[in-house]
Amino acid sequence: MPDTCPTLRRDGDQIVILDQTRLPWRETFVRLDSLDAAAAAIRDMQVRGAPLIGATAAFGIALALRHDGSDAALAAADACLRATRPTAVNLHWALDRMQAALRPLPAIERSAAAWAAAEDIRAGDAAANAAIGRHGLAMLESLAAGRTGPLQLMTHCNAGWLATCGHGTALAPIYAAHAAGLAIHVWVSETRPRNQGLLTAWELARAGVPHTLIADNAAGWLMAEGRVDCVIVGADRIAANGDTANKVGTYLKALAASAHGVPFYIAAPRSTIDFGCPSGAAIPIEERSADEVRIVAGLTDDGDTARIHLAAAHAAACNPAFDVTPAGLLWGIIGEFGILPPDGLATIASHASLAGH
Ligand code: MRU
Repeated sequence: MPDTCPTLRRDGDQIVILDQTRLPWRETFVRLDSLDAAAAAIRDMQVRGAPLIGATAAFGIALALRHDGSDAALAAADACLRATRPTAVNLHWALDRMQAALRPLPAIERSAAAWAAAEDIRAGDAAANAAIGRHGLAMLESLAAGRTGPLQLMTHCNAGWLATCGHGTALAPIYAAHAAGLAIHVWVSETRPRNQGLLTAWELARAGVPHTLIADNAAGWLMAEGRVDCVIVGADRIAANGDTANKVGTYLKALAASAHGVPFYIAAPRSTIDFGCPSGAAIPIEERSADEVRIVAGLTDDGDTARIHLAAAHAAACNPAFDVTPAGLLWGIIGEFGILPPDGLATIASHASLAGH
């Protein structure tokens, strides 16, 4: 697990990202030098994961204002970035913060202020990740107390350092537990169709955390067999009532966990909670290209990256990228604020330091 944030960094008046469309096969860094490049990196998922999407959008504003700090340039950049991906509310949270920081300033001061505000967002996310790790570790330690053998954890998608500006959300307690010497093993579900679970397996392998990759469909059976002690996943948007949107497949895991009495936690920073959204029914769910279901990316036996067509070119396919898990299936939400029951979010709604405004 890296100490600095290799997912996104400033280099002069550009930003450098780790291209996640090339992982886990190739570690490729890409330089972004314009608003359009930042927007495309979010849309095409070169950067992904709710907190990292928000941070990239903030830096996208800084890129846009380098030579023109006018109201028109700020408004155009904001509109362009807001339209990239609909579900992760961190995108809107970060852009709202950028607007609040920049609008009151004269145009001439906005470029420098935009870089500073974007760096603040990045640093704040890293600090939130660290706090999530501490709170989650305490929960895992109490689950592990008196048990023999490693604590069996399960996660879905990737909510690790690749998805954030720090050590991750769902993976932060896992990294903290590993660092604290707690015996753990992580079931990592593949996460079709974009296979973000492969990113999680790649991260965990680099950190030396014991883990096993599974097909998404194996999760329910492992829980039924008593081979899972706790599920921790990230979130893209948490409604005021605790209903939570996360990567498609999360809901099925929550249903299986509920059926088998397995603790099921969401780990997410305050920036993922949308108090303006009353319930999961109001969360916009991104529908991505059907080709993501029909075609997979991978390595050939010769070590070349390739796109493999699984289905007939025109096979009908539907690709909702997220689903909503009802609050009633959640045991708790782990944030920088501690661990709250899903119906207890109102207690932090007006907490200024956590709201970040
Ligand atoms: O489509 P993605 O890869 O951006 O979706 C990512 C997820 O669903 C994550 O679980 C979520 O954003 C939390 S990342 C800390």
